[in-house]
Amino acid sequence: MARISKTPKSLTGAQIRDKFLKFYEKKQHKILPSASLIPEDPTVLLTIAGMLPFKPIFLGKQKPDYPRVTTSQKCIRTNDIDNVGRTARHHTFFEMLGNFSFGDYFKEEAIVYAWELSTQVFELSPENLVVSVFEDDDEAFAIWRDKIGIPPCRIQRMGEKDNFWKAGPTGPCGPCSEMYYDFSPELGDNNIDLEDDSRFIEFYNLVFMQYNRDAEGNLTPLENKNIDTGMGLERMAQILQKVPNNYETDLIFAIIETAAKIAGINYRKTDKKTKISLKVIGDHVRSVVNMIADGITVSNTDRGYVLRRLIRRVVRHGRLIGIDGEFITKVAETAMQLAEEEYPNVKERKTIIKKELQREESRFLETLERGEKLLVKVIENTDKNNKISGVDAFTLYDTYGFPLELTQEIAEEQGFTVDVDGFEVAMKEQKERSKADYETIDLTVEGSLDKLREYINPTFFLGYTEHKITAKVKAILVKGKLVNNATSGTNIQIILDQTPFYGESGGQIGDRGYLTGDNLLICIKDVKKESGIFIHFGRVERGTIEVENTITATINTLCRHRVQAHHTATHLLQAALKKVVDNSIFQSGSLVSFERLRFDFNCIRSIRPEELQEIETLINSWISEAYDTQISVMELKKARDKGAIAMFGEKYSTEVRVIDIPGVSMELCGGTHVKNTAEIGLFKIIHESGISSGVRRIEAVAGHAVLEYLNVREIVIKELCDRFKIKPEEISNRIKSLQSELKTTQKTLELVKQELAIAKSDKLLSEAEAVGSFKILVSEMGDLEGKDLQTAAERLQQKLGEAAVILASVSSEGKVNLVAAFSKKVNKEKKLMAGKFIGEIAQICGGGGGGSPNLAQAGGKNTRKLAEALLMAKQRLIEQLQ
Ligand code: ALA
Repeated sequence: MARISKTPKSLTGAQIRDKFLKFYEKKQHKILPSASLIPEDPTVLLTIAGMLPFKPIFLGKQKPDYPRVTTSQKCIRTNDIDNVGRTARHHTFFEMLGNFSFGDYFKEEAIVYAWELSTQVFELSPENLVVSVFEDDDEAFAIWRDKIGIPPCRIQRMGEKDNFWKAGPTGPCGPCSEMYYDFSPELGDNNIDLEDDSRFIEFYNLVFMQYNRDAEGNLTPLENKNIDTGMGLERMAQILQKVPNNYETDLIFAIIETAAKIAGINYRKTDKKTKISLKVIGDHVRSVVNMIADGITVSNTDRGYVLRRLIRRVVRHGRLIGIDGEFITKVAETAMQLAEEEYPNVKERKTIIKKELQREESRFLETLERGEKLLVKVIENTDKNNKISGVDAFTLYDTYGFPLELTQEIAEEQGFTVDVDGFEVAMKEQKERSKADYETIDLTVEGSLDKLREYINPTFFLGYTEHKITAKVKAILVKGKLVNNATSGTNIQIILDQTPFYGESGGQIGDRGYLTGDNLLICIKDVKKESGIFIHFGRVERGTIEVENTITATINTLCRHRVQAHHTATHLLQAALKKVVDNSIFQSGSLVSFERLRFDFNCIRSIRPEELQEIETLINSWISEAYDTQISVMELKKARDKGAIAMFGEKYSTEVRVIDIPGVSMELCGGTHVKNTAEIGLFKIIHESGISSGVRRIEAVAGHAVLEYLNVREIVIKELCDRFKIKPEEISNRIKSLQSELKTTQKTLELVKQELAIAKSDKLLSEAEAVGSFKILVSEMGDLEGKDLQTAAERLQQKLGEAAVILASVSSEGKVNLVAAFSKKVNKEKKLMAGKFIGEIAQICGGGGGGSPNLAQAGGKNTRKLAEALLMAKQRLIEQLQ
């Protein structure tokens, strides 16, 4: 049958996103915002799929707020990074449109919705659609054939590799069904090969999460059947915009054009290789802009390393297409314009994004220079007949961003080749490693706490207003095992139906306090929160506690007040930093405890002492101005519109809690706070430091903790004053004079040691022996070290004239020191060089070293071999100087 396909209407990326979400909203799905690229799940580096933020729900660890949800989730995957730019549709950054059902609708509705969306909203002609189902999934096959009316020849059955989706080796999973767009339906239905990506593009994956998979691979049906789907926004844009690849869609192409303009290239007219580089730039710049906007900074580990690698690849591809100077911020500017409407944090953090990119770009340019030098060294150390090793070539590629071709080119100029096979092996190993990273998503249900979640509801937290309440014991754990009761002397974890105890979160530590009842006393030492369940860690001090007992839970209000003072002070600190240092500063972590607060933030320089003082003064004035803190709960969008600051990487629900200190600070926060800033009393910064590249830390104390901090300092000052019998204001001068005294004494000691060396060496002069026209002297010099041993050898050689002197000593740490001093004639006439000679001798003592032909130093570990080494040295000198 000849097929005639209708042309769908062209839509922009933003329109596609909007139409997808609105379609599912009409089908009773709650639209949720994209979660951060930094996942909450600590086992995964980056958000790699739309389902990731809902992992606890799929696992049954968390109850969903809505049974049906739809999102457009930003994702990063780097496991296929080398395909980016080479195929039509590989990306590191992409947006996944998804509809999710948590135990609500299943296969039939998911398929019907997907079909309706594709054919009616996106107007794809049924002639252009082909679907795949899992080989055993007759049910899905029948729905597509009977309910939707797709001819059976256009429903392909595929194996586990393609059509069984799992986020990791264990956990919820299920068969999936994929929708493909057929660019050439006129080729007919006989030779459908979905692997042929010049004809077909997979654009929508419907996963029927109906099993839990254990470590042995056994599948057990889940109680709740879920739907997880993913539509590639860039892919749908390619289809609807009728462009040959994803990169030429309106989501990316403007970035490519900016880069091409800087390079003076016309994308349409350029060669394939240049196009690949431009596509890599287009893709990676989107990644790095969004990663930095979500709070990731460049580093050598984890996410920071992924970011570094991507930035470096952009710079390198810039070089490949002939861009000389710094350019990444200009290209990022276009990427930011494209992203800012959908992702307001990109707009807010524009300055930070640019600063971070520029810093890494210039650092990398220096690295490139160093890489060139390293390559020269590698070549120097490579035997002429040998190839440059694959590992070396891979290090140059991976660490210094040198493409293999560049290494080959430079090597060839010098008459060398590169072990390409070795390079490929090293590359493959690296790929395996990153694949392993991708597969670290762990969806296993394990341990008693996980079991608990099946029947225990989230704990009601009443602690914002109540400090003492009556509660029911829902579960008791001893050493991680569920028990029915626990007696005096036992350490327990206890879960209540409701609690006044704050569970550690958002940097604020858990409350301390007591659980009491009839002759019962339990001290609570910490409280943690997991998936909404508060776990109280404590010890039964008196009596017995049983599940279903009613108890009184009381928090230690003194501790709570201290923590509150620190928490509100943390908000004031963020506001003051923005005011005094830079408005673009943002929080990257914090700890709010009883003793102190710790606030980490992104800033590329240290905070100057005068700025710290200004911050301290400003905060103390806000404290004395006695502002009431206003706490309210509102929609996330409203809070953002009001200008409330949100924390990076944090996932917020649609309703958020806003802490407003009017005119001073407004932040989203779930923590506990003072009612009025005056309660804080006093604020004192105690330390400022850098904790990683671009991240600074301020530690401070507030309220009662200030007094404790000052008391400790006072004890130290008093002790110093008593010891030196001086006043506090004299301490600094006294320390200065002590330091200078120490310096003078050290200098004198050095002089004395040198004189001793001279005296010792003069004594040795008489031990010199004549060999031919030379003098030789081989001797041990007790414990003289380093420079002194060298001075002695040089002096002896000078005094002996044409001579070869070898001196040895054993250091206080038990290491062998060897020094050789040879006169010029020894070098010239006998071709004996001090460096080479002493290096060989040191080998006998398990060491090595070297230096110039006249003077050289070596070391060794094996002191027992020293006598043998010296004997060998003497014998060689006698033989070679005759
Ligand atoms: N979770 C599925 C995927 O990533 C939808 O393809």
